[in-house]
Amino acid sequence: MSGTGSEAAVRPLRIVLGVTGSIAAYKAADLTSRLAARGHEVHVVLTRAAAQLVGPATFHPLSGNPVRGELFEAEGSGALGARVEHVGLADRADLVCIAPATAHTIARLALGVADDFLSTLVLAFAGPVLVAPAMNDNMWAHPAVVRNVETLRGFGYHIIEPDSGALACGRTGTGRLADPARIVERIERLGERAG
Ligand SMILES: Cc1cc2nc3c(=O)[nH]c(=O)nc-3n(C[C@H](O)[C@H](O)[C@H](O)COP(=O)(O)O)c2cc1C
Repeated sequence: MSGTGSEAAVRPLRIVLGVTGSIAAYKAADLTSRLAARGHEVHVVLTRAAAQLVGPATFHPLSGNPVRGELFEAEGSGALGARVEHVGLADRADLVCIAPATAHTIARLALGVADDFLSTLVLAFAGPVLVAPAMNDNMWAHPAVVRNVETLRGFGYHIIEPDSGALACGRTGTGRLADPARIVERIERLGERAG
């Protein structure tokens, strides 16, 4: 996997990388690898749908950190209140990036739904949130998605527009996950501003 280089002249960031159930979820492995190579600490959170497409076994070695998924499983062993992991991670993170972000996750974020590790963490997080949508071109153009993305912008979330080109569904249009190198750049720019 080619990185953008390991010569990170940037402030190392603690990044939560939310990966959702898009066909582009495999590209999050490249993104994790690039971020880790640049000295960032990456904590991957998979939605249930993402875990159908890619697994913790891919992300753990790339990030060097445990991969989160289920809310209650993560909070563990009965010692309630001792470790509320989604809040703890939200408190420690410098930035949350969701890449790829499905139409479903974008809708849930717009509504403030908090029923899994990722959505709960995002609500508990007060810093910069970067959302990188990936979906079919008709989905991206749908008024519901357009409205939900605008809602996220209104929250102050940063949106990295999807690219145009060949889509996994066989169509050509706008909806491809932005290039991982572009996502890394954007993360680092946001990290500098927040630092
Ligand atoms: C093979 C496959 C690929 C998918 N790719 C996408 C996608 O690129 N974008 C999208 O918005 N939904 C996609 N979906 C649908 C989502 O997986 C579905 O909406 C799911 O509920 C998303 O859940 P999540 O956002 O919690 O991860 C795909 C589904 C399948 C089965």
